[in-house]
Amino acid sequence: MTLILAIESSCDETACALIRNGNEILSNVVSSQINTHTLYGGVVPEVASRIHVENISTVVTEALKTSGVSMEDVDAVAYTQGPGLIGSLHVGVMAAKTIAFAYNKPLVPVHHITGHIFANAFVEPLQFPLMALVVSGGHTELVWMKNEYDFEVIGTTVDDAIGEAYDKVARVLDLGYPGGPAIDKLAKEGHFDPQYKLPTPKTDNPYNFSFSGLKTAVLQLNERLVKRGVEVVPADLAWCFQETALQSLVDKSIRAIKERRPAMTVLAGGVAANSRLRELMRERMQEVPSCRLVIPPLKYCTDNAAMIGAVGHVAFLHQKFGTFEDAADPGLEMPCDNDLFSHSQDDTLFNR
Ligand code: KG4
Ligand code: ZN
Repeated sequence: MTLILAIESSCDETACALIRNGNEILSNVVSSQINTHTLYGGVVPEVASRIHVENISTVVTEALKTSGVSMEDVDAVAYTQGPGLIGSLHVGVMAAKTIAFAYNKPLVPVHHITGHIFANAFVEPLQFPLMALVVSGGHTELVWMKNEYDFEVIGTTVDDAIGEAYDKVARVLDLGYPGGPAIDKLAKEGHFDPQYKLPTPKTDNPYNFSFSGLKTAVLQLNERLVKRGVEVVPADLAWCFQETALQSLVDKSIRAIKERRPAMTVLAGGVAANSRLRELMRERMQEVPSCRLVIPPLKYCTDNAAMIGAVGHVAFLHQKFGTFEDAADPGLEMPCDNDLFSHSQDDTLFNR
């Protein structure tokens, strides 16, 4: 039996959860700053960290209260060490260290993206080898997992993340922030229009992705049409952008899945909430009947602390403890087989 208190504050959600045995959610409190950042058209890092400071204590208190457990029952404090916005990360790191110090609990630093992957453990037990298609505002990656704590990046974006492209295209179409859900909704009313045909993204490595050229193509097409006095139909342009981006993403992923033959494929990250991506993956995975597809429920696609608790449980079992010297790391890499980042629990306690 394990009980993990998990903290997430890497971007614009302040969150705390209590997770028993890796997949039982006793509480999952998320305080979103989205209404504030919408006013600015995107996340303002300085504002984000200030709001985290204001909210973190309330969120932790609330998570503990609703879970029905006390700090004495907790085995470890897991927290997002990176990647993310440095000022935002700092708040969660300091909160985790303070709680760990006060209650004499080991610290378990977690990579944010591994949390997104483990959000799928709330649906069913993960099976290995596993392929994760990670799609978020900062990442677009194919992650190969030979076992539960080995994350090998076999493909990545060479420029923009897919969520970033959604957000920028949404800005051109005046859809506000965050752009992903708005494009998802608008594209449902859109159709193919040959004058909006966009170039298919190309990369040297078949597993890598690229979305910057596509994003620029949408901006330039929009400008050209406006200059010519042609009325742009936002739903059709959103449809064409989404289909081009997702066809490329899914084609490459299916190719990698067919070549590597995982037992399970999972979607992870904010863009995994996209209804068309979920539909396309379900369709195309029929070409690989030996591989199970798991898609996380919508509420676990975007940032939350439950997912950090799920991976924190695995890290705890593997004794991947942190120390009080650890700091927020915006460029943190995922733990891979040859990873040296491991301390014993005794180190953690003696290193105060
Ligand atoms: O994983 P996440 O919550 O934060 C990061 O770690 O980046 O992902 C946020 C991203 C944003 O770019 C947002 O526009 C996108 O996920 N997103 C979506 C949808 N919901 C959120 N993109 C496409 N369709 C959606 N339904
Ligand atoms: Zn995220």
